[in-house]
Amino acid sequence: MGEVEGLKAANAGEIETLRIKYLSKKGEISQLMNDFRDVPPEQKREVGQYLNQLKEKTQQKINELKDSFADADAPSGDTDLTRTSYPVEMGTRHPLSIVKKEICDIFGRLGFSIAEGPEIEDDWHVFSSLNFAEDHPARDMQDTFFISHNPEIILRTHTSSVQTRVMEQQQPPIRIVCPGRVYRNEAISYRAHCFFHQVEALYVDRNVSFADLRQALLFFAGELFGAGTRIRLRPSYFPFTEPSAEMDISCNLCGGRGCQFCKHTGWVEILGCGMVHPNVLDNCGIDSRIYSGYALGMGIERVTNLKYQVNDLRLFSENDIRFLRQFESAN
Ligand code: DAH
Repeated sequence: MGEVEGLKAANAGEIETLRIKYLSKKGEISQLMNDFRDVPPEQKREVGQYLNQLKEKTQQKINELKDSFADADAPSGDTDLTRTSYPVEMGTRHPLSIVKKEICDIFGRLGFSIAEGPEIEDDWHVFSSLNFAEDHPARDMQDTFFISHNPEIILRTHTSSVQTRVMEQQQPPIRIVCPGRVYRNEAISYRAHCFFHQVEALYVDRNVSFADLRQALLFFAGELFGAGTRIRLRPSYFPFTEPSAEMDISCNLCGGRGCQFCKHTGWVEILGCGMVHPNVLDNCGIDSRIYSGYALGMGIERVTNLKYQVNDLRLFSENDIRFLRQFESAN
């Protein structure tokens, strides 16, 4: 035991060598501990105590040696305090997070607040409450990931489910944006993935009209894609809105003159929208004779592709630092 006191080291490296020699998993003291099982029972008590003391003392001694060097590390006369420090590696925000935040901020300026809901959902919130017919193809197993069939528990296929969750809890006025991840059973390719992200917006109050929707969309497009961006609404169909529309914006690459990106039409589609179907309001306990509302939903990947001309969806989930670094300045 006296030997422990005599341990010496000239620098931090030597202390580490001592630590490895005695205290590491394969060190001498650990070896002795391993051999302990062969000690005859009548000596176990004595030997055990001795070993524990030895280990404790060695640890103490090594700590003392470390402390003595720590003092020596304090700046001395020849330390150059003006030397630049090591560069700190900074992470960057993910492009989808940047765009999600931008979309939510724009709606925030119109008075919308953020609402979120679960990714694991039931049929009611994803489909039935939103006026999907019993045999609607979107319920098909081709599109929906099922967790269980009875009861039907699924991964949500769109963030419209959050509309229902909020309307069930709250009476109008309701003004929410719902960002989140959604899942669909698609083969993965450059333009489809089995999960992606959406932002949904919902406004319900007395006298909400299609003109209000159009005005909000025009403001949104100008803020996100730049002043002067034009919008176009084409009639469409969604079970949960009536009337429904899809919104195109003037192509932000060619300014609407026509290019490969917009397939020479001058327009690119970015979102679906419409007036909330009265059945949906009633399903959620909101009186459709008093209130009306508009809703819209868009894919964050799609908007990001348009803003930054990313042409392969898979890049968003590969975590390739060379791709992610390109968004540093957008942070
Ligand atoms: N939920 C739709 C989808 O996933 C998007 C959508 C369309 C949302 C129209 C809406 C809407 O709120 O009004 O394709």
